[in-house]
Amino acid sequence: MVEITAIEKFKKFFGTEPQVVAVAPGRIEFVGNHTDYNGGFVMGVAIDRNIAVSVSKRSDCKICFANSSTGEKVSLDMGAITPLPRSLNWVNYPLGVFKFLLEAGLKADCGFDFTDASDLPKGAGVSSSAAIEMASCYALSKLYGFPISKKQAVAIGRKSENNFVGMPCGILDQGVSCFGKKNSVVFIDCKTEEYEILPLAPNCKFYLFNSTKKHALVDGLYAARHKECLEAAKILSEGGKERMLRDFTMRDLNAKKDKMSEVVYKRARHVIEENERVLLAKECMRVGDMASLGKILFASHESSKKLFENSCAELDELVDLLKLQKNVYGARLSGGGFGGAVMALVSEDFTEAQAEEVAMGYEQKFGARPKIFECFAGDGARIF
Ligand code: GLA
Repeated sequence: MVEITAIEKFKKFFGTEPQVVAVAPGRIEFVGNHTDYNGGFVMGVAIDRNIAVSVSKRSDCKICFANSSTGEKVSLDMGAITPLPRSLNWVNYPLGVFKFLLEAGLKADCGFDFTDASDLPKGAGVSSSAAIEMASCYALSKLYGFPISKKQAVAIGRKSENNFVGMPCGILDQGVSCFGKKNSVVFIDCKTEEYEILPLAPNCKFYLFNSTKKHALVDGLYAARHKECLEAAKILSEGGKERMLRDFTMRDLNAKKDKMSEVVYKRARHVIEENERVLLAKECMRVGDMASLGKILFASHESSKKLFENSCAELDELVDLLKLQKNVYGARLSGGGFGGAVMALVSEDFTEAQAEEVAMGYEQKFGARPKIFECFAGDGARIF
């Protein structure tokens, strides 16, 4: 259990038991690609793998982070919280959360010691950053006796990503890591920030196929897509109140097609149609129509590939190979894109041998194996 590992690591690095331990899961983006920061709809699943954070108060005003793999310690003064250089980015996630907890009103008369432990698959695009943010947020607010709601935790996590780590993401990752529930999907209306927990059909599970490919410029590409979407929304809003892509239909977009570049049009079309797909997927889940749900997942991938252009040959191949397998409802890239992982919604009859066939097909083409990972929908962030 990752919570126990976090306690043991804390004892090893700091010589005492931690006062508080909190856990938060990774997430799968189920459907709704790049819709969140456009105020749209998205569905995600918290997975049954977590990051645990262990913390204790110190007697001085220092904050001390111990790296859970290497034991390396980074110490700073509580009064001077600024982002650390990229090589120490692992510190920035919890540090940013602490900064925004202070801004939200948390009173700290002393610093803290911090370490963590994780059983999340590395580099599989399950948002370990949101998991560490949410676990840190729960642990630190408990440590200093500053109760916060789930929505506040999500907002603090996002603020930290946007303004401290420097990633212009939406609320999908933090929202799902916080609100996740066993055997359920989290539906988020990112404009109203309302959450719904939808039961997942019994007898299904998830498979992640991690291409292990990551575009060198992934952060820059994500930011570029973000900018293109904002540009589209600005053009569509011209002559009226400024609105987000979520507020427009394909009809609105087509009416202004000649006012924008081909690229900006494609990005906007992806987002507008993806929002429609999320709502349709929600309806399919409600009536238990798994076949149509699966088709929507495949269609979402196709749109990422052709319109949003955030897929890559490796992810496309994984989706194509999965399409050929029995017991697969649907598959699509999950998360920001430009490499990373494909998620497949499969029935419980989908076997390891089938996953292996997919991996072999992939290996034949790319000369390397994807990392395969089976998971189930688990619970959201909590105090241990
Ligand atoms: C990343 C971001 C999310 C979301 C997805 C794409 O995971 O962190 O906020 O934008 O990409 O849907």
